[in-house]
Amino acid sequence: MHSFSGLLVAVALAVSVKAQTTLSPVWGQCGGTGWTGPTACATGSVCTKLNDAHFQCVPGTATTAPSSPSTTSSAPAPTSSCQIPAPSAGKLRFAGVNIAGFDFGCSTDGTCSASGAWPPLTQYYGNDGEGQMQHFVKDDGFNVFRLPVGWQYLTDGVLGGTIDEDNFEEYDALVQACLNTGASCIIDIHNYARWNGKIIGQGGPTNEQFAELWSSVAAKYANNSKIIFGVMNEPHDVPDINLWAESVQAAVTAIRKAGATSQIILLPGNNWTSAETFISNGSGAALMKVTNPDGSTTNLVFDVHKYLDSDNSGTHEECVTNNIDNAWAPLAEWLRCNGRQAFNTETGGGNVASCQQFMCEQVAFQNANSDVFLGYVGWAAGNFYQGYALGEVPTYSNGQWVDTSLVSSCLAPNARK
Ligand SMILES: *[C@@H]1O[C@H](CO)[C@@H](O)[C@H](O)[C@H]1NC(C)=O
Ligand SMILES: *[C@@H]1O[C@H](CO)[C@@H](O)[C@H](O)[C@H]1NC(C)=O
Ligand SMILES: *[C@@H]1O[C@H](CO)[C@@H](O)[C@H](O)[C@H]1NC(C)=O
Repeated sequence: MHSFSGLLVAVALAVSVKAQTTLSPVWGQCGGTGWTGPTACATGSVCTKLNDAHFQCVPGTATTAPSSPSTTSSAPAPTSSCQIPAPSAGKLRFAGVNIAGFDFGCSTDGTCSASGAWPPLTQYYGNDGEGQMQHFVKDDGFNVFRLPVGWQYLTDGVLGGTIDEDNFEEYDALVQACLNTGASCIIDIHNYARWNGKIIGQGGPTNEQFAELWSSVAAKYANNSKIIFGVMNEPHDVPDINLWAESVQAAVTAIRKAGATSQIILLPGNNWTSAETFISNGSGAALMKVTNPDGSTTNLVFDVHKYLDSDNSGTHEECVTNNIDNAWAPLAEWLRCNGRQAFNTETGGGNVASCQQFMCEQVAFQNANSDVFLGYVGWAAGNFYQGYALGEVPTYSNGQWVDTSLVSSCLAPNARK
């Protein structure tokens, strides 16, 4: 493990910067439509236009000297027990949206009613998920979609059963619609590490049953490089994280042995795959041990979620945090120390000003740390109704798609250029 002294210095700096009222802190807002706060940035960061509504202090060196004395010059240099390469600002490899519907009917105890699944495709009486994805790629620059589905739907409610080909045909129609856009497509088993209330490998399904599911699914897409395998959505209250890592290992081994030898596989930790507690809750240390059959960790990427509301639940319309100090900054450092990467496959907020501010800040931070963060996937479009607090479902009228404000202001890569 790395030393925490670097983090303590960072916290101390953040506090001293906040006390300086004429400067906006690193990652803080510094301009944009209607902005009345500070327009100068803390030392070491530059006010950068993300879009008309939002300018932000992004780490870097300004071409002109800061107007106020440095607030950081007396701080000792951060130290660490491992060599930390400089963060790399760049372009995230992936940005996209969850296309929900096949997961409807799944509860957080892993009970999914196969009949509750609602395909987000017009031919199955759902929303036009295919049109949504085509729009997101063409107009917004998105290049990944996450396609949640319940385990019970895939086996038609039979634990340990084989894939139900009729149900799979419907799910595959969504996968093919995704692939046809040219985007990458994440297969997400949306079961919270469970089957009907019981935890995989810890009283519920055996690791062999879980591996058999993944073996069958991976075989269907083994030769498609655009498929990403999301081993499990949001494990939570899993008592033994090391046993859970063994279940994840069983899935990884099954996927690789089914012939999907090189695609990205997403490894989920405990506590709803919280990015904030990935390290402290022991998920990072346990999942570090998961390997490919050849012993490497190539394309084994940690799956992390983070919402911006008051309790990280993604159920409130208002946002209260950009998650940088509590989650993304320490996680980025840990990933760099360990030579690994993470993918934020669920994040979101309401279509309100607070979320526009904090989400733009979160996205900019991830962008500036694109060496360790693969990207983000917003929650959610697909079959949600208009009016869902975290809705990212675009509306289609008069021949064109119109995005929700959070998508158009912060999440769409084209909007961020
Ligand atoms: C992928 O697998 C399918 C089914 O097995 C096959 O029809 C197709 O030709 C394969 N594609 C490539 C590029 O190997
Ligand atoms: C992680 O969280 C779980 C509850 O989700 C708890 O039982 C466990 O003790 C925690 N582990 C650590 C190492 O904090
Ligand atoms: C789960 O994560 C949230 C923040 O994301 C945190 O407040 C809570 O304490 C965590 N629970 C455990 C058991 O680690």
